[in-house]
Formats: sequence, C-alpha cells, structure tokens
Amino acid sequence: MTNFQEFAELERAGWNDEELAQTYAGLFSRASDLAIPAMLSALRPGSRVLDLCCGHGNISEALLKDGHAVTGLDFSDTMLMLARARIPGGDFLKGDAQNLPFEDNSFDAVICGFGMMHVPDQPAALAEIARVLHPGGEFVMSCWLGPDRSDAFRLYFSNVMTHGSPEVALPPSPDFFQFTDPETTADLFETAGLVLRKSEQVASFFFSDTPEQIVEVFAKGAPRAGYLFRSQPKDRQNAIRTAIVEAVTDNYREGVHFKVPAPSLVHVAEAL
Ligand SMILES: C[S@@+](CC[C@H](N)C(=O)[O-])C[C@H]1O[C@@H](n2cnc3c(N)ncnc32)[C@H](O)[C@@H]1O
Repeated sequence: MTNFQEFAELERAGWNDEELAQTYAGLFSRASDLAIPAMLSALRPGSRVLDLCCGHGNISEALLKDGHAVTGLDFSDTMLMLARARIPGGDFLKGDAQNLPFEDNSFDAVICGFGMMHVPDQPAALAEIARVLHPGGEFVMSCWLGPDRSDAFRLYFSNVMTHGSPEVALPPSPDFFQFTDPETTADLFETAGLVLRKSEQVASFFFSDTPEQIVEVFAKGAPRAGYLFRSQPKDRQNAIRTAIVEAVTDNYREGVHFKVPAPSLVHVAEAL
C-alpha cells in the first residue's frame, strides 16, 4: 500500500472535529439516510449486525427498529458521542475498521454506510470484515457515485477545479470512487474472501434550505472534500461558493427548498 499516513491523519482529525461531525449529522446525512432502506433490505430477520463506521448512529437506529441486534463501531469519539445521544443504552464501541476488536465469526452481517472510502487500508478493512462474519454472512456497504454520474459531486469538484488554487492538493489516498466500479469492487471483495452478489443504485439527494448549504455540506461536512475548500485562500473560497450558489439557485430549486441529486450505490456481498 502507498503511504496514506497524512490522509489517515486528515480523516481522524476531521471526524473528531465537532463542527464537521455536526454538519455531517445535520446536513450530509440527509442524503446518506436515503440509502438505509436498500441496505437493510439485504439483511435476514433478527441478524447480529456490526454497524461499521457507525458515525452518529443513523443506521444503528434503523437496524434496531427492524429488530436486529446491533453493535456500532467508529474511531471518532465525537461521532460516537452523537450516536450515544441518539440511542441511549446503544452498544457503541470505539475502534478502527482496519483492526476490529472482535473474535472470528462474531456477526451474521456487517453493514458499512459511506465509511469504507475514508479508510486508508481498505484491503485490511475488508479482510477484517470477512474474518468477523461467519461463513455465508452478509456484508453490505454504500458509496457515492462520482462526478461523472452525480450532480452534487460534479457541482462541487468541478467548481473547486475551476475556481480553486492549483496549489491546493490532497495527500495521497485511495481513490474515493473506486467502489463505484463493479469489477474493482468484486476484485477487492474477492481478495478479502467476500463474493459480490448484488449492486443497486439508490436515488439519493442533498436537500438544503439555502443554496449555501450545498457548499457547507462538502466544505464543512467531509474531511477530504472539505480540505480542498478549507485550504483555499479566501478569494478562491468566495469564487467557489458564488459559482455553486448560482448553479444551485438556477437549477435545483424545489418549492422553497433545493434538491441536488447525489445517487449512491449499495453493494451486497457474502462471506466465504
Ligand atoms: C461518512 S460517515 C458515515 C456515517 C454513517 N455510517 C452513515 O451512513 O451516514 C463515515 C464514518 O466513518 C468513520 N470512520 C472513518 N474511518 C474509520 C476507521 N478507520 N475506523 C472506524 N471508523 C472510521 C468516521 O468517524 C465517520 O463516523
């Protein structure tokens, strides 16, 4: 694996930041939540489920409502605090997806909502998932489609490219959109001992009360995407914001709100 140390630190610091955690939970998650029904529909009734990269507990809450037994795991104290506030008495643990604190064959299912793309060593995390699942257990994960197929991601990244400083660059990291390619996904899964059974596209959207909130979603609600904005000089930030606000105002108004498509993919795999 390339050295993703700087990226790992960016992610860890980002998810522990209170403003980022609140923005993810309050704004970004309006889109993430829309993938939950497709993810849960893959599970067998009454499963013992690990909610990996559980964040603020949105998926854990839905799993509990559906009658599953749930353990949530995340490496961010700040996100775990939100999860514990949301589900008092819920079973939430601090831990790293690359080194899970569970015995082999501990779970019927592992579900990972929009988390895998943030992990530096994804092959290690996938191998850990296969290890803690019993044979035949299900692994379900979601990911965002990239700028080629997503209005929201295109709006953000194309305006950062056009109006941002070319000197602002991300540290080396795994390709954020690699799980949108079925062959790459199947290969990564297979190496870990998981067989890709099904991939389903979900029509998710960013809903916002103001066009500015679409900028906030990315700039303040995501470590890697936000770094590209936060590291810009003020005049470049203003130019990016103005261009996105104009595009959202002109193209994505729905009544008194704004709705920008951000389709996602849900993969369902089986442990060997
Ligand atoms: C995009 S949020 C997803 C939250 C929630 N699962 C959802 O679907 O909305 C990603 C979560 O992954 C967590 N995370 C990122 N890298 C992690 C790692 N290596 N180990 C455990 N959790 C990690 C972050 O702290 C954050 O809560």
